[in-house]
Formats: sequence, C-alpha cells, structure tokens
Amino acid sequence: MATDDEGMNMSDSKGTNVLVLLGSLRAASINRQLVELAIENAPDGVHLRLFDRLGELPFYNEDIDNEDVAEPVVALRRAATEADATLVITPEYNGSIPGVLKNAIDWLSRPWGNGALKDKPLAVVGAALGQYGGVWAHDETRKSFGVAGPRVVEDLKLSVPTKSLDGKHPRENAEVAANLRDIVGKLVAEVG
Ligand SMILES: Cc1cc2nc3c(=O)[nH]c(=O)nc-3n(C[C@H](O)[C@H](O)[C@H](O)COP(=O)(O)O)c2cc1C
Repeated sequence: MATDDEGMNMSDSKGTNVLVLLGSLRAASINRQLVELAIENAPDGVHLRLFDRLGELPFYNEDIDNEDVAEPVVALRRAATEADATLVITPEYNGSIPGVLKNAIDWLSRPWGNGALKDKPLAVVGAALGQYGGVWAHDETRKSFGVAGPRVVEDLKLSVPTKSLDGKHPRENAEVAANLRDIVGKLVAEVG
C-alpha cells in the first residue's frame, strides 16, 4: 500500500490540471489527433483539458477588453486560471503561428503583467507538413508566450513532419507517442 513517502504528494492527491490549446480549427486536424494522443497517454493524476473554443474568441481589441468582455474570453481566462500548466499543440501557417492561436495569446497576455497563466510552465509541440514539422511556428509560439506571461519550458520540443505519420493517427507512431508522453511528464514536473 502506498504511503506518503512512496509517491503521494500534494500534486498527486489533487491532480495536476494542464490546459491544452490547439492551433488548428480544422475538423480532421492532425494536431487535434496529437491532442487526443496526449490525453490518452496522460500520466496518472494529470488532467489534460482542451479549451476547444479558440475559434469563438473575437479578435483582440483593447476597446472590448473590459468588464463586459465576451463570454468566450471569460471562459478562456477561467480555464487558464484553473490550470497548473499549459500544453500548446499547433501547426505552422506561412512560417509562423496560426492567427487563431496568436489571438488567444494576446487575450491571455492581459491584464498586462498579471495574466491568468503568469509564471505557469508552458510547452509547445505540434505537427506540420514541412520537413521541419513546423519548428518556426513552435519557436515563435514560445517567443510570444514568453512575452505574454507564462514560463516557457524551452527545452520541451516536438515538431512532427506530418509525412512521418504515413497518413495514420499519431497514436500508431510509437516514437511520437513516447516523446509526447515524456514532454507532458516533464511539463508537469515543472509545476511549482
Ligand atoms: C494557410 C496555411 C498555411 C500553411 N503554412 C505552412 C507552413 O508555413 N509550413 C508548413 O510546414 N506547413 C504549412 N501548412 C500546411 C500545414 O502544416 C498542414 O496543413 C497541417 O496538417 C495543418 O495542421 P492540422 O492538420 O492540425 O490542421 C499550411 C497550411 C495552411 C492551411
């Protein structure tokens, strides 16, 4: 029987909440499949929760970022408040961050200096068609979130060229599955 010294700690007993943000709105998104894989393979006590409403956010505008801010923004910020860490899973669009994800970063960056993800660990992964698997988008997502408030864990990296998946769900790729599970475990280990 497990004792306190054999692995139970405060984090295990209440679980760790990981907010998942997905940079593709496409129904058949390969990055959505990576989200599914991350959830399927989550370590015990780790709850990955996809915030699946990025497409409902209005474009960021300081004029509407007030006490009457749109409900999807309230929901996003609440999900961020409830999270201990964030996993971002995104493709690359035109060498950079898909607009829907950048818009979410901008909403999460406010109130400036006191956003809901302030100082919480965040990792960025994803898949894209190009031979480098979207590494530009992933680097730029790290850069932007690094300005926005979270604590970006720079060495947690996974950029999957979609061709390497052979048209199959990424759960059928043992290397991708193992790497993603490892990243989630290391991200959770960063929770203070
Ligand atoms: C508007 C647009 C721009 C794209 N730009 C890039 C790119 O710069 N680099 C790249 O590797 N793939 C690019 N792609 C291809 C995507 O990586 C590919 O469609 C990927 O599967 C999209 O992710 P998803 O399957 O999660 O929707 C682009 C796709 C679209 C629709």
